[in-house]
Amino acid sequence: MISSKIEEALNRQIDLEGYASMYYLAMASWCEANGLGGIAQFLYHHSDEEREHMLKLFHYINDRGGHAIVPAFSAPQKDFKGIQEIFEIVLSHEVKVSNEINALVDLCLQEKDYTTHNFLQWYVTEQIEEESLARTILDKLALIGEDKGGMYLFDRDIATMGINTGGGKGSHSH
Ligand code: FEO
Repeated sequence: MISSKIEEALNRQIDLEGYASMYYLAMASWCEANGLGGIAQFLYHHSDEEREHMLKLFHYINDRGGHAIVPAFSAPQKDFKGIQEIFEIVLSHEVKVSNEINALVDLCLQEKDYTTHNFLQWYVTEQIEEESLARTILDKLALIGEDKGGMYLFDRDIATMGINTGGGKGSHSH
């Protein structure tokens, strides 16, 4: 049984992961509509992963005697200035998610909830990978700059980036 304090905190995390899924979906759609099919594919996949992260929390809360709640998501922005802005938002959201996961881990220790503490370790590892991937992409974009040929290759190559690294490791859900 989880305490109501932990249950509330995990439900807030559901909100963050679900919002990330919707936000990345909006980014994927913008890229697809603007001829960036590879980047769109990457972001659609990333959106799916965030939904998986959210679902893991649903099952965990309910399995431990709590009640996972579907939050009301505010609509994410629909237009973007470009790829640079998109991945800056991705990185800043992932940093925020990492901070919240760390705060949750801390709360578990305070509450002596070692089971949830153990459950959250998967997210701790996942966040290291996700932040690192977002930083790698921003580094590549900085190298490409305004080079259209470089962007063409980037769009082609990114489609498969992160497919085997983000979200898969240690996950029992996929
Ligand atoms: Fe599930 Fe990218 O945080």
